[in-house]
Amino acid sequence: MSDRSNFGHDTTTDQVLEGIDLTEARALVTGATAGLGVETARTLAAHGAAVTLTARNMARGEEVAAHIRETTGNQAVDVMELELGSLASIRAFTDNYLAHHDSLNILVNNAGIMACSEGRTADGFELQFGTNHLGHFLMTNRLLPALLAGAPSRVVALSSRAHHMSPVDFDDLDFSRRGYNKWVAYGQSKTANILFAVALDARLRDRGVRVYAVHPGVIETELGRHMDEEDRALINARAEQIGNWTLKSTAAGAATSVYAATAPELEGQGGVYLEDCGVAPIENESTSHGVRAYALELSTAERLWEVSEQLVGESFSA
Ligand SMILES: NC(=O)c1ccc[n+]([C@@H]2O[C@H](COP(=O)([O-])OP(=O)(O)OC[C@H]3O[C@@H](n4cnc5c(N)ncnc54)[C@H](OP(=O)(O)O)[C@@H]3O)[C@@H](O)[C@H]2O)c1
Repeated sequence: MSDRSNFGHDTTTDQVLEGIDLTEARALVTGATAGLGVETARTLAAHGAAVTLTARNMARGEEVAAHIRETTGNQAVDVMELELGSLASIRAFTDNYLAHHDSLNILVNNAGIMACSEGRTADGFELQFGTNHLGHFLMTNRLLPALLAGAPSRVVALSSRAHHMSPVDFDDLDFSRRGYNKWVAYGQSKTANILFAVALDARLRDRGVRVYAVHPGVIETELGRHMDEEDRALINARAEQIGNWTLKSTAAGAATSVYAATAPELEGQGGVYLEDCGVAPIENESTSHGVRAYALELSTAERLWEVSEQLVGESFSA
């Protein structure tokens, strides 16, 4: 049996879930066709949960689901199409999900893109903010009936230590004034992920839905697909400067998501940011750990909620 008090950087998904029975749980993992999403879905299924994976490439999603069914023996694994860069796709997905499943206990908002060239979603939003934040904002809110029906339930928002790179700039969300910077845009979107966790938790905690933001660590996945040589040099220089930036395996990278989704130690807590399978402290200086205070401010989280509602053109009374 794992010693849960020793959980940390190298703890794996299966260690986090050792002794935890998820056979009564229904889970949904976005972006489960690569990297951390695949491992998150696999381990939840291995411990008994019924799992829905989302994919924008359905053939790839079906392949992953078949592999998970085969390796875990859990047949309750399905795939649904979702493109977070399109409000129409999100609405079609949530209608589809609610038509098939009336409750949800674990939602892992895992899908994401990083440091891509300047671009727009189908609805004209800056690509990283639109995909990483607005897409999950709309999707999660439209799934609230299922999350409330499944309570006690948890939502996990994949953020990143890259949130240190930028607060949300409400005066220039889409970089039309300051000039696009792909890292600042990624950082802003990952701060938005934390602020959404804070605001959603504040709204739902009295009804049994708790929300967590997570930094998974640094893991070699397809996330770096948009990085060029210059980016890699920058990342390596930063790693040297920080000193303790050891790469994690995928199983250790997905562990904090799974911890946030299931750990009994987190009962009674929410609206917090986790790293290395534990709640991280507020840190306004360190570049190696912790969460910036600006990412946890409730007033900022509420402001982002309002702006996000306006942008997606839908209000949520949650
Ligand atoms: N890896 C790290 O070191 C690290 C560090 C900090 C935070 N994170 C966060 O962890 C999460 C998972 O990252 P990862 O490393 O596993 O990345 P990954 O290997 O690139 O996987 C990302 C997943 O998101 C999906 N996705 C991307 N854009 C999408 C869109 N517009 N609509 C729907 N799905 C979309 C991808 O689908 P396709 O297969 O179709 O592309 C894929 O399934 C991200 O939110 C990332 O920001 C990762």
